[in-house]
Amino acid sequence: MGRILKYGFLFFVIAFIGIQFIEVDKTNPEVTADIQAPPEVKRILRSSCYDCHSNETRWPFYSSIAPISWFIADDVNEGREKLNFSNWEKLYSEKQDELKRKIWKEINEDEMPMSTYIYMHPDAKLGLPQKDIIKKWATGNDFFNLDFQKRLK
Ligand code: HEC
Repeated sequence: MGRILKYGFLFFVIAFIGIQFIEVDKTNPEVTADIQAPPEVKRILRSSCYDCHSNETRWPFYSSIAPISWFIADDVNEGREKLNFSNWEKLYSEKQDELKRKIWKEINEDEMPMSTYIYMHPDAKLGLPQKDIIKKWATGNDFFNLDFQKRLK
């Protein structure tokens, strides 16, 4: 039994070291058409969304450690594919409107920012006032605040 544990541990250590050599696609491509939005909106997007939805990802130190790095790089690449604020201004206005609707939907349902991200970045969690700012920007709806919406349900 002792021997199995010892070789098992050794195998684990060697495998862990081995996977560090697998290359991970961690890039920050050029920012070509960064989103133009009111400063209060921009601040929220920057602090809660830009790490996965822009080309200005702040890669944390643990994003260099496999296998965590694989999951993070996957999230960033998939996130950028669906929504990239760094090329927002190049999108047709119809596409922007569609994305704004999705942005509000994801935030309203607490789907975004991703829960795994909030675990490591508690400040990224959006409170009611911040959600309200995004709602007004994304839906153009000024008087409809969240508390009011809740009371209607
Ligand atoms: C940790 C990375 C991460 C963060 C932070 C993050 N997202 Fe995402 N987002 C993703 C990934 C990955 C997807 C694609 C998979 C999915 O839909 O769950 C996605 C999908 C989306 C979509 C759906 C796009 C589509 O076309 O279906 C929207 C909208 C979105 N995110 C908005 C946001 C907003 C707004 C924020 C900030 C408040 C945010 N996300 C923060 C990773 C992230």
